[in-house]
Amino acid sequence: MPETLEAETPTTADPAFREDVLNGLAQAQPAVPARWLYDRRGSELFDDITRLEEYYPTRTETAIMRDNAAAIAAAAGTGGALIEFGAGSATKTPLIIDALRPDHYVPIDISGDYLRASAAALQADHPDLAIDPVAADFTKPFDLPREIAGLDRIGFFPGSTIGNFVPRSATDLLRTFRDILRDGSRLLIGMDRIKDLDRLRAAYDDREGVTAAFNKNLLTRMKRELGAEVDEDAFVHEGRWNEMLGRIEMHLVAVRDTVITLDGHRFAFPEGATIHTENSHKYGPRGARCLLLAGGWTPTHEWTDANHDFAFILAEAQPNRFAP
Ligand code: AVI
Repeated sequence: MPETLEAETPTTADPAFREDVLNGLAQAQPAVPARWLYDRRGSELFDDITRLEEYYPTRTETAIMRDNAAAIAAAAGTGGALIEFGAGSATKTPLIIDALRPDHYVPIDISGDYLRASAAALQADHPDLAIDPVAADFTKPFDLPREIAGLDRIGFFPGSTIGNFVPRSATDLLRTFRDILRDGSRLLIGMDRIKDLDRLRAAYDDREGVTAAFNKNLLTRMKRELGAEVDEDAFVHEGRWNEMLGRIEMHLVAVRDTVITLDGHRFAFPEGATIHTENSHKYGPRGARCLLLAGGWTPTHEWTDANHDFAFILAEAQPNRFAP
């Protein structure tokens, strides 16, 4: 079969992906939700990004956690149930478990397979820890396992993933966490700080082109999974700082006039037009605290690195009451 035909033959087509692309490309500013960047290849590329010299957030947050493990444990308390929003990372999850020594660890992730694999790897190194994975979409309400009823609960949401949500959705998400974890709970959350713009831009447009490959993988997926006709070479990656909204935006920018065709719909991209693919919001100290407060969490402690590049924040669930 000729290569072009092979590329246009859809393999696995998630109906939600098709719908998001059709709706997204029809908008005045074409945009595709960032979740579609993370197929197997996209997740591997993101993993590569976390090791890039320019991409400081992962190693900075890890260093903050390592350097402040005793203080974090003293402020957050030990034992109880640690609930991680996400399947956990091979580095940060063991660090927080070794610091907080929880009785139960509850990772929550939409991908059941990935969740089970990472839970099994963690169990091998922590044989005495009770691990109760929950396969769920943590942006929507769900029940925590019965096994942790009556235990103190602490949520863990590292990586500055909160920055990938626009503030309105980030507030909703924090409120969902508050509802899931309930009264008396605490939350440990990582947030990336606003900093020198050249460093910020470099973190999202590295010299090796890994972030560019991560972004362009979306076009490859559209061709392979949806059967879209796309000239991938007609688009380049751009990591753009939006000063007003305090965020890095990833775009795919058309370098010449081009058309994407999907299911009989034609989406024209004149030279310079873009597809907006991801936001990564950055917060100053006050902005980070306001976001948490709006989401139902009162910040109580904050740890940062010597350059103040990244913040690791402890917050407690605001009590539900009528008046101050
Ligand atoms: C997953 N998330 C926290 C990353 C970030 O920094 O916003 C995603 C990413 N996109 C490009 N580089 C990294």
